[in-house]
This record gives sequence, structure tokens and C-alpha cells, in this order.
Amino acid sequence: MTFVVTENCIRCKYTDCVEVCPVDCFYEGPNFLVIHPDECIDCALCEPECPAEAIFSEDELPDAQQVFIEINAELAEVWPNITEKKDPLEDAEAWDGRTGKLEQLER
Ligand code: SF4
Ligand code: F3S
Repeated sequence: MTFVVTENCIRCKYTDCVEVCPVDCFYEGPNFLVIHPDECIDCALCEPECPAEAIFSEDELPDAQQVFIEINAELAEVWPNITEKKDPLEDAEAWDGRTGKLEQLER
């Protein structure tokens, strides 16, 4: 089991989540973060920290977000680790809650 970062993180990237993770298993891309599924210990601390409500337990993932299981696993292998909070992306507030953001994902 793991937690998964989903679509609403894209173009927001608030990074509050990384501050609470006890095993530092977040990885950072240009406009999205992912969780490494083999490193996550399922503690659930990050889920309530995300202002965009983008983090879900794998077993509570909405159907439309299932694709993000694979995206997290794949990109956690190639993106660098992030352990400290930084400023959100410019226009994060404007992008928060929009649909169809998957096509905005930069790899
Ligand atoms: Fe880190 Fe816990 Fe969130 Fe997993 S559930 S990513 S271990 S804070
Ligand atoms: Fe993304 Fe939420 Fe973390 S927007 S960077 S999952 S705090």
C-alpha cells in the first residue's frame, strides 16, 4: 500500500506535504510531485497537509485518478528527492481545482 499524488497537484505544487513525511519519499518534477510507492510507509501524515487535497491512499483513490498509481511509480524513479517546502508555483491558486490537468504534466 502507498499514498498517491493525484491530478490536482499539477501546476500547484504547494509542497506542504514534503515537510511531514517521515521517510522523505517525495520526488519533484517541474510542476508535480510524486510519492515513491516502495518507500511510503503509509503513515497518512501528508494527506491532510495538501491544500489542494491531491493526496489519497491507494485504496481510496477515485476511479478517474487510478492512472496516477503508475505515474507516481514511474516518475519517482527518475525525479530528484525533495525534503523541504518551497514556494508554490506561480498561478497555483488559479490552477487549484481545475479539471483536465493531466495534459499539463511536465516530465
Ligand atoms: Fe510520506 Fe507518510 Fe505520506 Fe507515505 S503516507 S508519502 S510515508 S507522509
Ligand atoms: Fe502537490 Fe499538495 Fe504536495 S499540491 S506538492 S501534493 S502539498
